[in-house]
Amino acid sequence: MQLLSEIRNRQSVIVFQERDVEQEKIDLLIEAARWAPSCFNKQEWNYVLVSKKDETRASFEDALSFGNGWAKSAPYLVAVSANPEQACKINNIPYYAYDLGLSVMSLVIEAEHQGLRVHQMAGYDEKRVKAALNIPASQRVVVIFALGYEGDVEKMKDKITEKIKKKITKARTRKDPQENFFFGKVHGLVA
Ligand SMILES: Cc1cc2nc3c(=O)[nH]c(=O)nc-3n(C[C@H](O)[C@H](O)[C@H](O)COP(=O)(O)O)c2cc1C
Repeated sequence: MQLLSEIRNRQSVIVFQERDVEQEKIDLLIEAARWAPSCFNKQEWNYVLVSKKDETRASFEDALSFGNGWAKSAPYLVAVSANPEQACKINNIPYYAYDLGLSVMSLVIEAEHQGLRVHQMAGYDEKRVKAALNIPASQRVVVIFALGYEGDVEKMKDKITEKIKKKITKARTRKDPQENFFFGKVHGLVA
C-alpha cells in the first residue's frame, strides 16, 4: 500500500515559474477550500488571492518578512483570515485557526493534484497585510501562502542566493512516529 501521491510528494518549494495559473485551476482550488469541514459548518475563513497583475500586489509583498522574499516570484500570494469572534469556541478552544487550516490543507491537496505547489508562511507583518488588502480590523490573518508552478532550480541557479540554496538542499525530516502517535494510551509524553 502506498500513501496518496499528493501527500507523499507535497513540498513547500521556494522557486516558482513565472507561468500564470489557469483560472480553471484557481476555481478548483476555491472549491477544495470551501468544501472543507468546519466546526458547526461556520466556514470562518476569508481568502484574498493576489496575482502579479493586482494593484495591491506590491504592498502585499512589502509585508513579507525578509526571509520570505523568495515568495515574490510566485504568481499568486494569498492571505487567509478569520474573525475569531465569529468562529466556534468549545471547551474554551477557539476553532477558527483549526477550521481555516483544514480549509487550506484541502486546497493544498487539490493544488498538488493539479500540478501546482503551495508554500504557507507565518512570516509577515499582519498590520501591513491587512492595510494592503483592505482586511477589516476584526479579522486575524492566520496564514499567507505562495501558489504557482514549481520553478526549475537548475535554470535559476544564478538568481538564487546562498541562503535559498541551503534551504533547497536541506533534507526534509519528521519526528519519529513513536514520539507523537500512541495506541491505547500515552507513553512518555512530558507532563
Ligand atoms: C503555519 C505555517 C507557517 C509557516 N511559515 C513559514 C515561513 O514563514 N517561511 C517559510 O519559508 N516556510 C514556512 N512554513 C513552511 C514550513 O517551514 C514547512 O512546511 C516545514 O518546514 C515542512 O516542510 P514541507 O512543507 O516541505 O514538508 C510554514 C508552514 C506552516 C504550516
